[in-house]
Amino acid sequence: MAREKWGSKLGFMLAAMGSAVGLGNIWRFSFVAGNNGGGAFLLLYLLCVIIIGVPLLLTEVSIGRKAESDVVGSFKKLSPGTPWFLTGFFGVLSAFLILSFYAVVAGWSIYYFWEYVSGQFFVEPAEGYAGAFGGFTAHAWHPLLWTALFMILTIVIVYSGVKKGIEAANKIFMPLLAIILIILAFYSISLEGAVEGVRFLFQPNWEALKEPSIYIAALGQAFFSLSLGMGAMLTYGSYLTKENKLPSAALGIGLMDTFFAVISGLVIFPAVFAFGIDPSSGPPLVFITLPSIFEQMPMGGIIGIVFFFALILAALSSSVSILEVPTAYFMRVFHWSRRFTSILMGTIMFALGITVSLGFGMWADVTPIGERNILDSMDYVASNILLPLGGLAMALFAGWYFKKSEALEATDLTHSAIIGNIWYTIVKFLAPIIIVLIFLNKLGVI
Ligand code: PHE
Ligand code: NA
Repeated sequence: MAREKWGSKLGFMLAAMGSAVGLGNIWRFSFVAGNNGGGAFLLLYLLCVIIIGVPLLLTEVSIGRKAESDVVGSFKKLSPGTPWFLTGFFGVLSAFLILSFYAVVAGWSIYYFWEYVSGQFFVEPAEGYAGAFGGFTAHAWHPLLWTALFMILTIVIVYSGVKKGIEAANKIFMPLLAIILIILAFYSISLEGAVEGVRFLFQPNWEALKEPSIYIAALGQAFFSLSLGMGAMLTYGSYLTKENKLPSAALGIGLMDTFFAVISGLVIFPAVFAFGIDPSSGPPLVFITLPSIFEQMPMGGIIGIVFFFALILAALSSSVSILEVPTAYFMRVFHWSRRFTSILMGTIMFALGITVSLGFGMWADVTPIGERNILDSMDYVASNILLPLGGLAMALFAGWYFKKSEALEATDLTHSAIIGNIWYTIVKFLAPIIIVLIFLNKLGVI
């Protein structure tokens, strides 16, 4: 059977942007920035996106397009008989870890959407929005129903074929999400006491740079947000035809993703300070802050409905790209149908997600890594360790395994000498060195 292809160049762009823009920009960006001191983190994050993220995005997509296979198969095809394909196994593992908590958080978003549709969240509940969040997530199975719903939607889109399912929805809802976020940002900044939040986000506190974990947090966020290092972009690239020009696509995706992160920072932090919420509340942060904003706004309830609807679609267009990684791999290896494979993979991830969800209730004391609960631990291993390692391997692969001419051809940089050389120097030396230094620094070696 012939491998599937995107319908058009726009189809790839929409799907890749859909993969990038998601809960990572709003939910994860806010709490990681909040935990790591705001401004200094934002600066490091932007540097990671520019110096490492965009060049690696180009690398990852081009490996997929050249090989026309899944994340394991691509390395086997391009470098037979070598261990490079292990990169793919890390990618598949990351996909399992990430989607199991992503689906839980997306499930919370569906629940919030429902609470707005039914009008429950229009006014603050007696226990406050923080209390309502805590009560809901601590319930043994209630949140899991929403997680299951989200997983089913993801599976259905993946088995109906990525292109039919996701291209159309993205065309409408990404712009809509952008418009709502911009309106919310203006509103949030106009709140009393909001300046403090703007300062928190944009005025770096240089002391924060002394903390080694800020570097790995910024690197991990760049990888997570750009969907890098696990083969989601590689797999999407494998459905491309040679006509597309990759460098401008990579830049466009990087800019778009960063725009969504910064604008959500401008929504969340002014409000966090205006309402006296703790910026380092962790994963619950946006689920407490946003309802507080909507409650104060004229027509806030309606805006809440539209916002959470758009957020769910943004999350879906990311989750399908995650599920697609193991689906494409297992389909090829075992000759299973797309339908069977996606259902099986999604079910396993849901089962893992049960532990994540219980980590907010009866398993709250289970802290696999340091003080981290189950969600934070899975996120830490996947986003801060496995994704950067995957990215490191892909950079080294393009920089050292390929001949320079081959690498430039794969990325459509043959005819742009300056950009080609910059990109090549980055993947061959700069990005690997920075990633290794950040790891060593975190380990306390340097
Ligand atoms: N980039 C997505 C987001 O920001 C999440 C994601 C991570 C998607 C890794 C694919 C791979 O929400
Ligand atoms: Na993102």
